[in-house]
Amino acid sequence: MGARPRTWIAIVAAVVLVCCVAGVAGVVGFLRWNEVDTRGDVEFVNRLAIPPLAPSHVDEQGRRVFDLHAAPGRHDFGAGPVATWGFDGDYLGPTLRATRGEEVVVNVHNGLPEETTVHWHGMHLPASMDGGPHTPIAPGATWSPQWRVDQPAATLWYHPHPHGRTAEHVYRGLAGLFLIDDPATSVDALPHRYGVDDIPVVVQDRNFDGDRLDFAPSLVGMGILGRTIVVNGTLAPYQEVTTERVRLRLLNGSNSRVYQFAFADHRSFALVGTDGGLLAAPVTTDRVLLSPGERAEIVVTVRPGERLVLRSDPPALGAPLGRLFGGADGFDVLELRAASSLEPSPALPDRLVEVPALAVDAATPTRTVRLGDSTINNKQMDMSRIDATLAPGAVEVWRVRNDDGKPHNLHIHGVSFQVRRLDGTAPPAHLSGWKDTVYVAPEREYELVVRFPTYADPMIPYMYHCHVLYHEDQGMMAQFLVLAPGQSATPMPAHHRHHHHG
Ligand code: C2O
Ligand code: CU
Ligand code: CU
Repeated sequence: MGARPRTWIAIVAAVVLVCCVAGVAGVVGFLRWNEVDTRGDVEFVNRLAIPPLAPSHVDEQGRRVFDLHAAPGRHDFGAGPVATWGFDGDYLGPTLRATRGEEVVVNVHNGLPEETTVHWHGMHLPASMDGGPHTPIAPGATWSPQWRVDQPAATLWYHPHPHGRTAEHVYRGLAGLFLIDDPATSVDALPHRYGVDDIPVVVQDRNFDGDRLDFAPSLVGMGILGRTIVVNGTLAPYQEVTTERVRLRLLNGSNSRVYQFAFADHRSFALVGTDGGLLAAPVTTDRVLLSPGERAEIVVTVRPGERLVLRSDPPALGAPLGRLFGGADGFDVLELRAASSLEPSPALPDRLVEVPALAVDAATPTRTVRLGDSTINNKQMDMSRIDATLAPGAVEVWRVRNDDGKPHNLHIHGVSFQVRRLDGTAPPAHLSGWKDTVYVAPEREYELVVRFPTYADPMIPYMYHCHVLYHEDQGMMAQFLVLAPGQSATPMPAHHRHHHHG
């Protein structure tokens, strides 16, 4: 008789123990099921593809003319052909390059089975040339935007922006770089031989399903989080280095993933440029965080004969459940193979370019931008609603907060902006230059100073949105119009008033 209560206690204790262990294991398992870490496991067997420089010619009117042709193809990332889309090829597109002051024209031909657009991310240009969702290109049609390049030297990029379909078009492979040169802000002492000591590094994550790309979104509301890294469309890539210093133009061309780039041996390097141009001075660091759409130009010094691995370490997302959104993931990205004897490179200059601070005073208007779950200021994108109206060249302070637990960022079309404050204090050095996309960690306040475009257009707006493309397609986007004095907003043609397919 006396043993019975003790037996019961033992049974209950055992059950509680088993449940606790299973519960903890279950929670840990849930948090980990999606995690991936390839650091140290990648054998770099494929030579890095370098996107070709796009050919161009100067026409009778003195304009530099490029042609881009978007079409389906089959691309070999390094493990057999996969169905993809590309510009002038099977995957990604050529690097366009133009000099400040030039008039450029790009004839964009749509050889895809559906409507698309091409947006010039980071470019200062009229809204009608910007390639947002209001300027669709029908299958078989050609769109020929033209504009005058008028901004400092920078690493920009281009990609489709069709309403509600951007994530899929970019994921299939439609993206490329657009480099701007400017005698006044290019800085000759930086490595600048394209493909030799100035290397484009377009980083994307993909999931493969045999000879197809896998489009299944993650279960955590971030869209596709790929488990495999491709650089310039190459799996497990290496790049031979023949000079003492090499410049990497890093683009996070992924749909959703945030990277924290670093070298495997944690060596420091110089961050010399961000989205909209070079920094005032090189910033010595050992890591750089890039959310989707952001760029960084870095210069790293190598030793003769060494092999140096560029990695992405688990990114500091600043989100409480960050590991659900890739915050615990790590990747090997690219191996740099230094030749046994290296050509000397010039020393890095102490100063690079002038980055004059945009002036703010008591009269500068302030606007609040709150990032929510698929919303901006609690609204979902509506093609026929104008969310903000600005005068040409207006300067505003934008206070940006992420009220959602997930990682988000903010990209503004047609401009470069400056981060004035982060949580009320001066931003870190890596946010001290020109930006057009900024990571917005939950519950922090980013104060941006934005100088809006000088080009007025009463009909076609510019976009601002989260560059996690799944969020953008879900409606996390808004639009502003630039109106000249006396102009008023003109309704957009009915054709464009459809809703997104979210
Ligand atoms: Cu890179 Cu609105 O986009
Ligand atoms: Cu853009
Ligand atoms: Cu987002």
